[in-house]
Amino acid sequence: MDQGAVTSSYRADRDTVIKILNEVLATETVCVLRYKRHYYMATGIHAQAVADEFLEHAKEEQSHADIVAERITQLGGAPDFNPEGLAMRSHSQYVEGQSLLDMVREDLVAERIAVESYNEIIRYLGDDDPTTRIAMEQILSKEEEHADDMKKLLDQLGQDERFSEPRR
Ligand SMILES: [Fe+2]
Ligand SMILES: [Fe+2]
Repeated sequence: MDQGAVTSSYRADRDTVIKILNEVLATETVCVLRYKRHYYMATGIHAQAVADEFLEHAKEEQSHADIVAERITQLGGAPDFNPEGLAMRSHSQYVEGQSLLDMVREDLVAERIAVESYNEIIRYLGDDDPTTRIAMEQILSKEEEHADDMKKLLDQLGQDERFSEPRR
């Protein structure tokens, strides 16, 4: 009775799933920080639309982090929010980027890493933990949208050299 949502029909290795989810939590948290940084550095007359997109993504990455933390507790684990080692636990890197174009490029790299790792996790979970798998699938579809958004921005901004200049 002390196991909460986990019953004998749970087929996955719970400790491994919790460990994977904590890496996902770190990745999403790093994404929030990177998009926030990019948002505050991008504000300006020619960059407002891009800044708005960064802010929207920051909020969505935060909601992903919350979904993952919640699932970790349902599995009887503890979400790891320790800032120490955060970058090490994360799948993607925190890259600041000099110009607006650099920022979008870095975000695209990070989104593509997220898409790949969610795909791997979904395959690993299979039918052993359908609840976690469905959560991962929902987040994956958002990350694919994010990657697509960044690709489109990159194509638009790439045609305008103002966006290749360093921000400050
Ligand atoms: Fe995310
Ligand atoms: Fe994303």
